[in-house]
Amino acid sequence: MDALTRYLDEHRDRFIEDLKAALRIPSVSAQPAHRDDVRRCAEHVAAHLRAIGMTRAEVVATAGHPVVYAEWLGAPGRPTAILYGHYDVQPPEPLELWTTPPFEPVVRDGKLFARGAVDNKGQLYMHIGAIEAHLKVNGALPVNLRVIVEGEEECGSDSLETFLRQRREQLSADVIVISDTGMLGPDQPSISYALRGILYTEIHVQGPAHDLHSGEFGGAVQNPGNALGVILAGLKDADGRVTVPGFYDRVRAIPPEEKALIKSLPFDEAGFIRATGAPVAWGERGYSTYERTTVRPTLDVNGLWGGYAGPGSKTVLPARASAKVSMRLVPDQDPAEIFPRFEAQVKKLAPPGVTVEVKNLHGALPFITEPDHPALQAARRALARAWTKPPALIREGGSIPVCATFQEVLGLPIILMGFGLHDDNVHAPNEKFNLTSFHGGTKSVAYLYEELGAGVKAVSHAR
Ligand code: BES
Ligand code: MN
Repeated sequence: MDALTRYLDEHRDRFIEDLKAALRIPSVSAQPAHRDDVRRCAEHVAAHLRAIGMTRAEVVATAGHPVVYAEWLGAPGRPTAILYGHYDVQPPEPLELWTTPPFEPVVRDGKLFARGAVDNKGQLYMHIGAIEAHLKVNGALPVNLRVIVEGEEECGSDSLETFLRQRREQLSADVIVISDTGMLGPDQPSISYALRGILYTEIHVQGPAHDLHSGEFGGAVQNPGNALGVILAGLKDADGRVTVPGFYDRVRAIPPEEKALIKSLPFDEAGFIRATGAPVAWGERGYSTYERTTVRPTLDVNGLWGGYAGPGSKTVLPARASAKVSMRLVPDQDPAEIFPRFEAQVKKLAPPGVTVEVKNLHGALPFITEPDHPALQAARRALARAWTKPPALIREGGSIPVCATFQEVLGLPIILMGFGLHDDNVHAPNEKFNLTSFHGGTKSVAYLYEELGAGVKAVSHAR
């Protein structure tokens, strides 16, 4: 066994402890009450990067949450990689559904439970362990490395976009590396060549000026709760298609080669649906579950409120009802183009007697690269060394807003090599990361840096 692999094996338990320390910081980017925790998490990650030997580790203030930047440029002549990750997490609510508190990480049954266990602190700390191992064992990294860890990924990455545009000149590199995606199964390593984009909106329906007795006034005025129901029901048809006019105009058809690739994937459709706990699969007619969640766009309610939702009954007509509605977008849809069409459709669906406001909370373009892009070869080799099965090339349904920005601003190829599983409860109660995934992932990324260092030609050819 080589010294690098031995180091990774010998320090497994401490890598978990390092990760746990980061997981104890509730860096919830969407909630203003956690602002200081978010900053503290940035300081924590920067200090850790400094401690393992990264240079210039700094916490860079932005208009929103800070960006952590660090570099190690001690390999002249070798390629330069940018590692991107995020230290912010999604809100942990509903808290009562967690078996143990979200910010008190614990290992049960070979799995580490905490908000951020996999998304993305766990996957970020795989890289931190791998970087430490290279620097300790060899006194050097196989590549030059810039590390960018942001604190706003879970709410749209607005500040990072500014950061990247401002530092564009200083951020010279050959390839971007990101571990914030998943694998098809616990022993099926995967490389993602496409992610969906997103458009995230809020709909507010206003009826009467204030709440009303539902007996005294029921039947006399439009109820915003009922009206919101009508609007939401009209946004998708019985075939699971989004009714917004023009929504599908820019959706790329799947080329035959890709259809064949998709057919060959060991995607466990039954297991995927079983893990959701839903009674059956449901989605756009004419497409498989894999296609529905990757190559096809969709529209979903993420939250819904208005009126009385406490115990027992309260007879009231609410003055207002609201919903958070997101659309997952695919190439070549553009959230900026979809939003006005969506807004017009919501207003058209609204019954008379209410006023409707539609807000655009954030958007991100979809990401796609060629499944056989030369930059992905290094990832394929690294995964082949760390796992038994050869890596699968997959598309995924989630979004990483910065991918499109990296492509546009820096023009670099992106390697998405992630280790999450469909039953990890990402964004949900009881998020977890299997320790076997964490350790396998740490090895994989350690090898990836080696492969990138060796494959100068492959990487630079990719540009
Ligand atoms: N790690 C996810 C993205 C992801 C999820 C990729 C599942 C592949 C499969 C990331 O942290 C995330 O959740 N992003 C948000 C972005 C949004 C808030 C703009 C998402 O997809 O909801
Ligand atoms: Mn996430």
